[in-house]
Amino acid sequence: MGAPKKPLLLIMLILSDFFVSEILAEGVTKEEAKQLRDEVREMFYHAFDGYMKHAFPRDELKPLSCGGEDTLGGYALTLIDSLDTLALLGDREQFTTSVEWIGKNIRFDINKTVSIFETTIRILGGLLSAHLIASDYNTGMRIPSYDDELLHLAEDLARRMLPAFDTPTGIPFGSVNLMHGVDENESKITSTAGGGTLTLEFGVLSRLTNDPIFEQVTKNAVRGLWARRSRINLVGAHIDVFSGEWTQKDAGIGTSIDSFYEYLLKAYLLFGDEEYLFIFQEAYRAAMVYLYNDPWYVEVNMNSAALVWPLFNSLQAFWPGLQVLAGDIEPAIRTHAAFFSVWKRYGFTPEGFNLATFNVQQGQKSYPLRPELIESTYWLYKATRNPSYLDAGRDMLASLQYAARCTCGYCHISDVEFHQQEDHMESFFLAETVKYLWLLFDLAAGPDNLVENGPYKYIFSTEGHLIPTTPQISLASENCSYLGAYCRSGKLVQETYSSDIVNDFRGTNYSFSGTAATNFFSSPAFHKSPSSGLIKGFCPGLTHGQRYGISYIDSVDNNDAESARTTNVDDEAQNSPVFVNHSSDSQPSDSVENPDNSNYHELMENQRVPQLKIETRETVDEERPRDN
Ligand SMILES: *[C@@H]1O[C@H](CO)[C@@H](O)[C@H](O)[C@H]1NC(C)=O
Ligand SMILES: *[C@@H]1O[C@H](CO)[C@@H](O)[C@H](O)[C@H]1NC(C)=O
Ligand SMILES: *[C@@H]1O[C@H](CO)[C@@H](O)[C@H](O)[C@H]1NC(C)=O
Ligand SMILES: *[C@@H]1O[C@H](CO)[C@@H](O)[C@H](O)[C@H]1NC(C)=O
Ligand SMILES: *[C@@H]1O[C@H](CO)[C@@H](O)[C@H](O)[C@H]1NC(C)=O
Repeated sequence: MGAPKKPLLLIMLILSDFFVSEILAEGVTKEEAKQLRDEVREMFYHAFDGYMKHAFPRDELKPLSCGGEDTLGGYALTLIDSLDTLALLGDREQFTTSVEWIGKNIRFDINKTVSIFETTIRILGGLLSAHLIASDYNTGMRIPSYDDELLHLAEDLARRMLPAFDTPTGIPFGSVNLMHGVDENESKITSTAGGGTLTLEFGVLSRLTNDPIFEQVTKNAVRGLWARRSRINLVGAHIDVFSGEWTQKDAGIGTSIDSFYEYLLKAYLLFGDEEYLFIFQEAYRAAMVYLYNDPWYVEVNMNSAALVWPLFNSLQAFWPGLQVLAGDIEPAIRTHAAFFSVWKRYGFTPEGFNLATFNVQQGQKSYPLRPELIESTYWLYKATRNPSYLDAGRDMLASLQYAARCTCGYCHISDVEFHQQEDHMESFFLAETVKYLWLLFDLAAGPDNLVENGPYKYIFSTEGHLIPTTPQISLASENCSYLGAYCRSGKLVQETYSSDIVNDFRGTNYSFSGTAATNFFSSPAFHKSPSSGLIKGFCPGLTHGQRYGISYIDSVDNNDAESARTTNVDDEAQNSPVFVNHSSDSQPSDSVENPDNSNYHELMENQRVPQLKIETRETVDEERPRDN
């Protein structure tokens, strides 16, 4: 950091007019929710039709000039990324033609060097989610002529990425050539998110193909990263995949690291593999101790925990949504309110917002149509049914319509202060941004969609792709004997623990075979925690929702707000969230049991500035490379 050192500086900001709330909480009615949902649908088609007309089969649309550009591998990226949104919207016709076109025309034996991370979350994830929808009668979207074409494509693509994992640490290179493997001069530096956000897609592929290799290499990558955590359980941002040295030691929950945390929890929820749960719990606790400055998150040195960046980073906005999945709602509510106050100030969240100056960070002024804040809004609405989240969603929709809508689609905003449009539309706009907005309003309108009413629970990938918790993926058998399963039998947990995918892939018999695992079970945190509560969701007799630790969402889903409030204590006890505050007796899900909880309104209306109160030796004002 070439930042100018300043004397000890106590950051105390009083900007009373800063977050003047304009939220009137008029309350979105059911009728209005329907209209908003339909407006989002129209938004989708404005962008999707623009892509199909002007850009397809190139990767992405240039929405101002109405052209196309190849930004990833030149394989119709936006179409592949949009498939499950088409299915979610119930567009059988376009879903069918798109799946058929991709099956016939996409090939991956091409001489292109592509990002492992982006290719996995956008292409592999897009293909797999569409495959799981198109091949299954239960989704109502089965395509009669479909013959696993997308699954074969996904497998072919993943095999072409495997050479990248051949490193001493198991952490993959950042890029691979789909035809020739890793390029001779490929960089050995990759980001933590790049190495740690592959488990869902590769794991699903293993379970669909019965070939454990994909699950193995990606789990190994996570172990490689976690093994190099600091003594205080933080990970850095960039690492050398050969030496295992951190080349960028700033720990945070935003850029370069974000989805590492996300996939730890989601891999556990999807696969029931507890190794991910234990890593998540330790990583999460450390994040809440060292990175959380209620309600903000900062970046600190991974070893010393010294503050490096007092910066809100727009990618951090996924975190409250993740906290909902973990059952840690209270801090999620406060953080979401703080992040949304930044959105309200500019109409969008800038990539970087400096918490020391309370201004947009130089060089990080853009809003490239990112979904994260909308995603968290959806999850918090789902968990609390607090109508304020619908108001927030309506505001965000209005911003997009007013400032980002352009000739042939939706434009990036290059500067949130001046709302200048830029000629790009990332594929994740259709895969995520529009999807979460639509789901939010559809939920309020009385949901009728695959996610809420479908045959399975869905886990969302970091690209917003729908991954169903079908038995084939999540459960090899119901009786605690599936892959990664744990069932409390009164004996030591070791007996049911397994970390060896190959031996246990058929999921019938378990033996303790992991060595790394010992650390997790012998960690003090594990022993002092009421761990049976965390894990009992995996034993027989529990509902599906309970098994996935998100049943408090169920209980709200299936009732209206009124009856949700009367959820009885027994249910509450069973619905143990994944995250438990060990120093407290209070239920982390309090606010869920009480949808009228006025936290959010207070936060949004009392105009209190969520200040960052930390002592810091330096404030840093320089730009930093981003890799997302
Ligand atoms: C692959 O692409 C690179 C760079 O575009 C080129 O130099 C090389 O000759 C190509 N190789 C083959 C086999 O097409
Ligand atoms: C890799 O780098 C070396 C040394 O700079 C150079 O001689 C070689 O041509 C490079 N190879 C490729 C494929 O670019
Ligand atoms: C699972 O448990 C049920 C109820 O205890 C039992 O009837 C069934 O046989 C068990 N299945 C297997 C595969 O053990
Ligand atoms: C598990 O292994 C034991 C010992 O090898 C065997 O007796 C038992 O039948 C196996 N159980 C299953 C469900 O395969
Ligand atoms: C955990 O509980 C303690 C004691 O009630 C409280 O001070 C702390 O803020 C809680 N932590 C979180 C992350 O909720």
